[in-house]
Amino acid sequence: MLPLALLLVFLLTTASSWAEDFQGSTHKLEYDEMPVGYSKATPNGHIARLQAQINSGEVRLQWDSEQGYLPALLRALKIPSSSQLLVFSKTSLQRTLISPKTPRALYYNDDIYVGYIPGSDLLEISEADPKLGGVFYQLEQVAAFKPKLVRNSECIQCHGGNRSLGVPGHVIRSIGTSPDGEIDIQTEAAEITHCSPLSERWAGWYVTGEHGWQTHRGNLVGIEALERQAREPNFRGNLKDLSAHVDLKDYPERTSDIVSHLVLEHQSHMHNYVTRLNFEAQQMLATYGHLRYLDRQVQSFLRYLLFVEEAPLAEPVRGRADFLTAFAADARRDPKGRSLRDFDLHRRLFKYPCSYLIYSAGFDQLPPPIKERIYRELGEILDGKNPQPEFARLTPDDRRAVKEILLATKNDLPDSWKTGAPAGSVAAASTASK
Ligand code: HEC
Repeated sequence: MLPLALLLVFLLTTASSWAEDFQGSTHKLEYDEMPVGYSKATPNGHIARLQAQINSGEVRLQWDSEQGYLPALLRALKIPSSSQLLVFSKTSLQRTLISPKTPRALYYNDDIYVGYIPGSDLLEISEADPKLGGVFYQLEQVAAFKPKLVRNSECIQCHGGNRSLGVPGHVIRSIGTSPDGEIDIQTEAAEITHCSPLSERWAGWYVTGEHGWQTHRGNLVGIEALERQAREPNFRGNLKDLSAHVDLKDYPERTSDIVSHLVLEHQSHMHNYVTRLNFEAQQMLATYGHLRYLDRQVQSFLRYLLFVEEAPLAEPVRGRADFLTAFAADARRDPKGRSLRDFDLHRRLFKYPCSYLIYSAGFDQLPPPIKERIYRELGEILDGKNPQPEFARLTPDDRRAVKEILLATKNDLPDSWKTGAPAGSVAAASTASK
């Protein structure tokens, strides 16, 4: 077999489409081997800590007669129920229980995702672990003295291959269904990220909230509905809630919020990206002692981090106010009150185009040599010194704002950032260098 780096060089020099984006590189990495050792490693993140607290009696997960451990688990993990998203395609583990009448619900915060189906005997949980990427657990929906979140190695059958950038991670699909939720492969859109046009997103999902005349494929149950949408755009768009379509008595919320959808699609792919870069960097460092083969990966990672190819909003979108509030609760703000969690929702998702996951443990714990590289190049981009045309989409104002916010809120930036020229100003750049 070709050594990985040679294979990379081969791909880089032969496949120009691959070179355009890291997303093309979805072959599965051998993450069970050293240095990552995925399956044998012991995670020590939020879920492991919660289990320790349950075991010691410090935390009691209260059992709810309707929703089992769901409400208590969301509270214990500080996951807002307003993030609820409903997916009705039979795309995941408990496919037999999922249908347009009984959609699967997902909830999340920055680090953890929870899946719930009323009447199912298990909750599905994934955590973005800084060392391991996505780690998967199940919690039995049976009242117990000390409930157990059990790691499940089967989940990576779907969550550890080319649907999640070839690393253990998160999966989002957009795929049309029959009236009972059976998937129709012909209608599948390519990988869903913040780059996907809205018109391709959310087949197989419910969507609530306002989006004006721009179309999406949510709320369309059955191929006929998808066809009717072509003739009658948005005949099932701009929904306030879903009561007319689903019996929601066993769900905590009545929505599948459009803004929560947009955030999830940015975030889940970002998590996968951080993991991919982390694993590749570890492998390169272990094998070659340098990262030179990762130049393009770093560039495309930066494009995703900075929303360079984000699909623009053609019209404003509006969802639940309480989701916006919950999302902004822990925002790190600069002295002007600005934060990477501030929403725009008119032209794009966020006001300042740099992912808030730059504060995540996954980013913070990237191997130091790759993190230094990212910071150096990010600094150059924000100072307007990266000549690549892709980054021109970031306006001087965007670059300046992002740089100022990061300088005020991120304490591990290299010194070169503090002396760097203010973004976008040639005059200032020459003054600064005197
Ligand atoms: C048959 C494939 C498949 C298996 C097996 C599977 N999942 Fe998933 N999972 C999906 C798909 C597809 C999605 C995207 C949402 C959807 O379509 O339901 C998803 C989404 C999720 C999400 C939401 C965020 C994320 O991480 O993508 C969680 C949480 C999750 N799954 C947990 C689990 C756990 C825990 C297991 C194992 C107990 C598991 N899944 C096994 C296919 C699978």
